[in-house]
Amino acid sequence: MKNFVIATLALLGSASLHAAEVDQNLIKQGAYLARAGDCVACHTAKNGKPFAGGLPMETPIGTIYSTNITPDKSGIGDYSFEDFDQAVRHGVAKNGSTLYPAMPYPSYARVNKADMQALYAYFMHGVAPVAQDNQDSDIPWPLSMRWPLMGWRWLFAPKVEDFTATGEDAVINRGAYLVEGLGHCGACHTPRALTMQEKSLSAADGKTFLAGSAPLEGWIAKSLRGDHKDGLGSWSEEQLVQFLKTGRSDRSAVFGGMSDVVTHSMQYMTDADLTAIARYLKSLPASDPADQPHQYDEKAAKALWNGDDSLRGASVYIDSCAACHRTDGHGYTRVFPALAGNPVLQTEDPTSLIHIVLKGGTLPATHTAPSTFTMPGFAWRLSDQEVADVVSFIRGSWGNKGTPVSAKDVANLRSNDMETMSPNDLGQVTEHQ
Ligand code: HEC
Ligand code: HEC
Ligand code: HEC
Repeated sequence: MKNFVIATLALLGSASLHAAEVDQNLIKQGAYLARAGDCVACHTAKNGKPFAGGLPMETPIGTIYSTNITPDKSGIGDYSFEDFDQAVRHGVAKNGSTLYPAMPYPSYARVNKADMQALYAYFMHGVAPVAQDNQDSDIPWPLSMRWPLMGWRWLFAPKVEDFTATGEDAVINRGAYLVEGLGHCGACHTPRALTMQEKSLSAADGKTFLAGSAPLEGWIAKSLRGDHKDGLGSWSEEQLVQFLKTGRSDRSAVFGGMSDVVTHSMQYMTDADLTAIARYLKSLPASDPADQPHQYDEKAAKALWNGDDSLRGASVYIDSCAACHRTDGHGYTRVFPALAGNPVLQTEDPTSLIHIVLKGGTLPATHTAPSTFTMPGFAWRLSDQEVADVVSFIRGSWGNKGTPVSAKDVANLRSNDMETMSPNDLGQVTEHQ
């Protein structure tokens, strides 16, 4: 009898030990998925505790604040799995009201239930609880009433169901799951309709998916489709993996809103998942049927080399830019990005380019590429006309096919975007959180 009890206890002991092990794995899996979903980027205030919320987010009707999603009572500590799932995949808060779609639940609707369970395990057991009350939105009544959001959700949020792979390639299917689901790449990279929903939520929906957005906080999230001119047609799968993992490739450097995505999320993905994301993006066809590969044109480089600065913007380029980006526009591999053939320069909307010239940027450090490089801001050194000239020059040189920009385009952005800046900000690291 005594032996039996001991044997049972031993058995129970090992059974619960086993349960704990499984749990740890589930929590670890959830931590990885939370990286893939970049929950930390929105749910952490500047200098705030991780996941405690309070980050202000601009919407067309006013400022809202992300919420505390730590397992404290003031956060989601008393959420059941069902409550959590309702919020993350369905956009419905525990009290039954609809969440603002600043929380990307229309993308998260595609996450599998098993992955939701891992996320829940992580948020309940892997995240440190923080006591911090949520902040009300600054949206004035009557717009602050949440019931119209319910109508929006009924009209535009997709049905919540486990992701079903459509293609035959398992790697591309995994990429689709990550990009269309947790990665919520479309929340920034897909154009929105007047009623603010993304025009498409998956590759199957058509040519608008990831076709590039309107400016958000002074940056545009450009097309990720197969076009050479302004999409990813000229990028190899390997360059894409390098870019997402390290924030740089042999031709380009991350900036603007994408820097956060790389530093908080993509650099933590496994090489297998990054390859899946890259292969899936490379499977998206070009939007423009007349799309052509870039053809390098030597004219601008030759003129600069011969000291001929008669082209519009050439003299500004020589004085302010060529030291880093070089007269031939090829830059320095993995240090200063190339401008020749770079799709960033050939987007229809020049907002990002004007913005980076005015404000500068710092290539962020990642754990596999710790060195950072800074481009100074030129807001206090160049006039609107000079910025317009040099941006027009880089958009039209070395075979680039971007359209010219006007001094007025620059003036508009300078006044919208720069009013909060002082000359002391020049060249400083800017945070876009
Ligand atoms: C792009 C920004 C963004 C990202 C990314 C994001 N959230 Fe949110 N989330 C929000 C905002 C904003 C709210 C509050 C919306 C509101 O008040 O209507 C919110 C609300 C929530 C809520 C409801 C909380 C409550 O108080 O009921 C939960 C749960 C949640 N998010 C979990 C997550 C998880 C898990 C992830 C990652 C998989 C995530 N969020 C990623 C912006 C984001
Ligand atoms: C918060 C908004 C946001 C989200 C979410 C986002 N991006 Fe971006 N992305 C941007 C912006 C802004 C740019 C332009 C800056 C740049 O090129 O570095 C960009 C640029 C890129 C580029 C470089 C394109 C080029 O030609 O230089 C790639 C590749 C990219 N994003 C992939 C992704 C993928 C994959 C996801 C989802 C996992 C994603 N992005 C999610 C905002 C976002
Ligand atoms: C001191 C070196 C330096 C100088 C001078 C400089 N840049 Fe840059 N440039 C950089 C670095 C570094 C980046 C990457 C910034 C980032 O990742 O945020 C960059 C990025 C860019 C980009 C975005 C390209 C991409 O794919 O990341 C453009 C466009 C650009 N620079 C244009 C210019 C123009 C125009 C001038 C002159 C007015 C200029 N730069 C002067 C170093 C420089």
